Amino acid sequence: MFTVLQISDTHLSQRLPRFNANWAAAARVVAQQASELIVHTGDAALDGPDHAADLRFAAAALRAGIGPEGPRLRCVPGNHDVGDRAFITPHQPTTDETIAAHAAALGPASWVEDPPGWRLIGINTQVLGTATAAEEAQAQMLAEAALTLGDRRLALFLHKPPFLHHAEEGDAGYWTVPPEERGVLAPLLESPHLRLIASGHLHVQRLVRKGPVMHAWCPATSFVVGPALMPDTHGGERCLGILRHRFCADTVETEALPVPFAEPIVLDPIVDEIYPAPRARETAAD
Ligand SMILES: [Fe+2]
Ligand SMILES: [Fe+2]
Repeated sequence: MFTVLQISDTHLSQRLPRFNANWAAAARVVAQQASELIVHTGDAALDGPDHAADLRFAAAALRAGIGPEGPRLRCVPGNHDVGDRAFITPHQPTTDETIAAHAAALGPASWVEDPPGWRLIGINTQVLGTATAAEEAQAQMLAEAALTLGDRRLALFLHKPPFLHHAEEGDAGYWTVPPEERGVLAPLLESPHLRLIASGHLHVQRLVRKGPVMHAWCPATSFVVGPALMPDTHGGERCLGILRHRFCADTVETEALPVPFAEPIVLDPIVDEIYPAPRARETAAD
């Protein structure tokens, strides 16, 4: 058995340090856990596409919080790290350049790890549908990872969940991987060996087990999104926290860990200060 801690949506910045103390509080929880690996499921930085310094600051703050003797850190990018598809955030499209800036600070956006009996895959959801070289490279990596899975069990880590409730649902807009981009994920999502889909992005905590698969929405460490900006939590809870995944022989046991000394910041009243226009209000929150 091994343990992976999942952290998400730290939204770190030296320019606008509103959420940095909450990461420091979360890091104290991390330090109390014995784990081999920490996976950050995106939005490490407050505004990476426009401020590469936010990515560099986030990387330094994350490593400082985890400590030199702490677990290794793997990241997948969020929309506030590298951007999104151009029709969702026209002013911040994901490009090969934004992905390279993220990789320089926080490591590869897509990755595969094979601890004993398992395959863990980090997926860059922000590149899907962008027709970039990074999208093509990831597609090849995912196809290869599916083909060579063997008898390993499978866990996926990504910023946006592939869907809200089920794989056949229609377009949920900003919130999930769009239906037309789920095809590249299908060999993984449909694998009988799949045991965990671990995502961030909604700043909501929701743990749902469907058959053998745990669908884990990791809450943020930074802020919650209130009803003005996100009326529907899709069955989840508005709270801060981190997740602990225990990988057993054939299953993942996921537990939510609260962050006792975090300030319960609600984004709604400060969104114009944190994410000034241009942006679409409903798409800036998380
Ligand atoms: Fe996000
Ligand atoms: Fe976020």
